[in-house]
Amino acid sequence: MTHAVSLVAQYFGSSGGELRVGGVPVGSIAAEYGTPLFVYDASVLERKWALLRGTLPAQFAISYSVKANPNRAFLRFFLGKGCGLEIASGGEFHQALSAGCPTQKVLFAGPGKSEAELDLVLARGIGEIHAESLLEVDRIQVIAARRGVRARVAIRVNPGEEAQGGAMLMGGRPSPFGVDEESLEAVLDRFLSEPSLEFAGIHLFTGTQILDHTVLTLQWRKGLNIATRVAERLQQPLPALDFGGGLGIPYFENERELDMARWREDLVALTAEMQRQPSLRGTCFLVEPGRYLVGESGIYVTRINDIKTSRGKKFLIVDGGMNHHLAASGNLGQVIKRNFPVALLNKLDGKPQETVDVVGPLCTPLDVLARDVRLAAASVGDLVGIFQSGAYARAASPLGFLSHPTPPEVWVEDGQMSLIRRRGTYDDLLSDLVSSRRQAPNPAGQATVRCSANAKKNPAHDVSETKEQ
Ligand SMILES: Cc1ncc(COP(=O)(O)O)c(C=O)c1O
Repeated sequence: MTHAVSLVAQYFGSSGGELRVGGVPVGSIAAEYGTPLFVYDASVLERKWALLRGTLPAQFAISYSVKANPNRAFLRFFLGKGCGLEIASGGEFHQALSAGCPTQKVLFAGPGKSEAELDLVLARGIGEIHAESLLEVDRIQVIAARRGVRARVAIRVNPGEEAQGGAMLMGGRPSPFGVDEESLEAVLDRFLSEPSLEFAGIHLFTGTQILDHTVLTLQWRKGLNIATRVAERLQQPLPALDFGGGLGIPYFENERELDMARWREDLVALTAEMQRQPSLRGTCFLVEPGRYLVGESGIYVTRINDIKTSRGKKFLIVDGGMNHHLAASGNLGQVIKRNFPVALLNKLDGKPQETVDVVGPLCTPLDVLARDVRLAAASVGDLVGIFQSGAYARAASPLGFLSHPTPPEVWVEDGQMSLIRRRGTYDDLLSDLVSSRRQAPNPAGQATVRCSANAKKNPAHDVSETKEQ
């Protein structure tokens, strides 16, 4: 069974060989909204939420990491569960507020926050800012003092030892993220002397896409040691300890899901240990996952536009590509290109019988959604789906590349589909262009030079240039 087919069985279901999302045949969704599109199944979100909530001891609060999928429908879903939101930009702050998030439930992490962003969030009374450098602490202090507010600031720590296991390690080595564990004391001392700063705690973030629960436990234990040291230095219990995100989902054939049952056993033991420590009495524990919660709920649905064989290799050319889903094309940090789970969504019962490349419509050899994948015999008009596309997919893609319309997003819940982001139009592409002399249509006083002899015959070949006289 391919990974895609097992995901269909685990989360979605099918009838007559056609994928169903939230009970709705994928062909109906594509007919209603067109392709390419992203579709999300709310029941998968419910399952992932329940699994995580049931695994974490009750003492742990959850903030959803907006960057994984910033659509308001997701933010509202998690706010409805009592989550806070972790943001990493002024834009995500606006998204959070527009989804109805109280400012107190927003925490702002991420390197390189601008003065304008810090001013914006402090003016609106943000819950917490997680500082990534000493300069940032100073910057927050100046803005808070100017505004006459007290900023709640936690420090993100880049731990000194590496805990292996994440696909993209963010700690344990030189890093733009967080303050090196070795220089933590100097930053902490700032808090003791600055009345406009309130120390909110420690934030640990060391990686993403971790599928081994023992790596997570190891990292959290490391975080605990740092937290104890900090509390001792400040001679007060630590207000909060944020363990970050990083929980992975299986993308590739040989990957296994996180073992939540065994991780739960580790966490119960760890929590009992934490509760015995005086320095952690009253400490709030927090996690801020993104991928784990939303990644499996989404499918990128494309339609085959052309099929061609070039020198013995077969290509399925679909109507969307790396401009909408950079991660699936392997250009978002994979060392070796590996295929996301992919299937012909209207031929799920078909026996795999040909090896093909699934490529998008962009004019670059990088635009490969799946390489050498075994699929049922495909025809023009079939739907090709890329699974595990709910996180860092649309949101982490170069949507403007080649100026195709942006893909819509559709949410399916209890058999009802709703559009949660419309498809971009050609007008959208033009809407933020400022008018300039170069765009003026052949104004008086300018001569047009035709560069192509064919231009008169075929306007598409008219590579006109205007020259000022
Ligand atoms: C500060 C912070 N928190 C949370 C996350 C979410 O990570 P993940 O999606 O791996 O859970 C990230 C991801 O980069 C992050 O930078």
